[in-house]
Amino acid sequence: MSAEKPTLSFSNSVLQLEMEKAFEYLDKAREVASRGVDVISFGIGQPDTPTPEHIREAAKKALDEGFTGYVSPPGIPELREAIANYISEFTGAGDIKPEEVIVTPGGKGAIFMAIASYISPGDEVIVQDPGFPAYECTVRYAGGKPVFIPLKEEEGFRLTPEAVQEHITPKTKMIILNNPHNPTGSMCTKQDIQGILEIAKENGIIVLSDEIYDHFIYEGQFHSVLEDPDWRDYILYLNGFSKTYSMTGWRLGYIITNAKAIERLTVFAVNNFSCVTSFAQKAAVVALTGPQDFFKEVLAEYRRRRDFTVEAFNSLPGVRVLKAPATFYLFPNVKEILEQTGMTTEQFSLKMLEEKGVVMPPGVPSFPLKAGEGYVRVSYVQPIERIKQGVERLRQGIEELLEKA
Ligand SMILES: Cc1ncc(COP(=O)(O)O)c(C=O)c1O
Repeated sequence: MSAEKPTLSFSNSVLQLEMEKAFEYLDKAREVASRGVDVISFGIGQPDTPTPEHIREAAKKALDEGFTGYVSPPGIPELREAIANYISEFTGAGDIKPEEVIVTPGGKGAIFMAIASYISPGDEVIVQDPGFPAYECTVRYAGGKPVFIPLKEEEGFRLTPEAVQEHITPKTKMIILNNPHNPTGSMCTKQDIQGILEIAKENGIIVLSDEIYDHFIYEGQFHSVLEDPDWRDYILYLNGFSKTYSMTGWRLGYIITNAKAIERLTVFAVNNFSCVTSFAQKAAVVALTGPQDFFKEVLAEYRRRRDFTVEAFNSLPGVRVLKAPATFYLFPNVKEILEQTGMTTEQFSLKMLEEKGVVMPPGVPSFPLKAGEGYVRVSYVQPIERIKQGVERLRQGIEELLEKA
């Protein structure tokens, strides 16, 4: 036997996958906390409220009724129908049918399914930079080539049709559009969406549209790609329950596209995960068909937190931040601090964690390419009191750094 254990000789494709760097910061935060430091985290990408009670009750009921076996691979019929109805109305698409929906293990499961199902070696895929790390990793896993479009602060970090046009080639197979956007909190305008979709249609390119933050909108009107009546031809619409319904641990997401494509994606599902957890799907039906009022309060509270956090960060020396219109993230610019101290963004983030017990994943390498250098991501999913404490610690930390510089 060779020196290396056979169980460590991984396939080339799996070696393209990387850990999410933001998770590594959370691990570091745990290590700092274990030294007795009260760590304040701006690093968490999930709502701080539990799943609403009526949704939890539905899962308990399904369990008690013995709804615990395998279920239909593309999702239980009542959930596919509930998703079709809800998203038809929410996006204005109007006539989505249950057979145009497949339920997946989380939004991440949907990302993997979509990219693995369409990308072959040599295909180019347009990806926003900065962006959610799973996209580019999975493209490389499939042998594809991620083509990065840097998002610019001057453009509110939006993906614009002009930038897409500049980056497409005859090899472009897919455009991944995350709107509203993690990590910057940006949102595309109607014109942006229409322009990007026009380019995709003209060039026969798939648009994978991840709209998982579509309910967290504070300003302006959100526009879904499903507003295009031709969506069945070229769009893979992706969404999930994690963020809106505080269901991150339940692992529930979905893809909407034409019924024939869903049949093929179902073959992928059968070979990969058979079906998504039966009783969780019952709860998801109730999430969509039950009362939605709880979310009004969530949104009002998040708006207060966003407004507070924007003002507080803009009052920090060397920091400026856009009032992001959506999601629960901000992407403050800390370039002035880096220029004065000679640090990289990562060194700055680590310093704030080690010395002040404040977690803020650096734009690079967390999200994970180049355009995030000079930025940190701030997630405001915690009470304002806590945000205030975090900001005051940062103020001290930054002042100390600048004094020494
Ligand atoms: C842009 C984006 N897409 C997808 C996901 C995946 O969410 P989940 O797998 O929990 O549904 C996340 C989670 O952070 C995200 O930020």
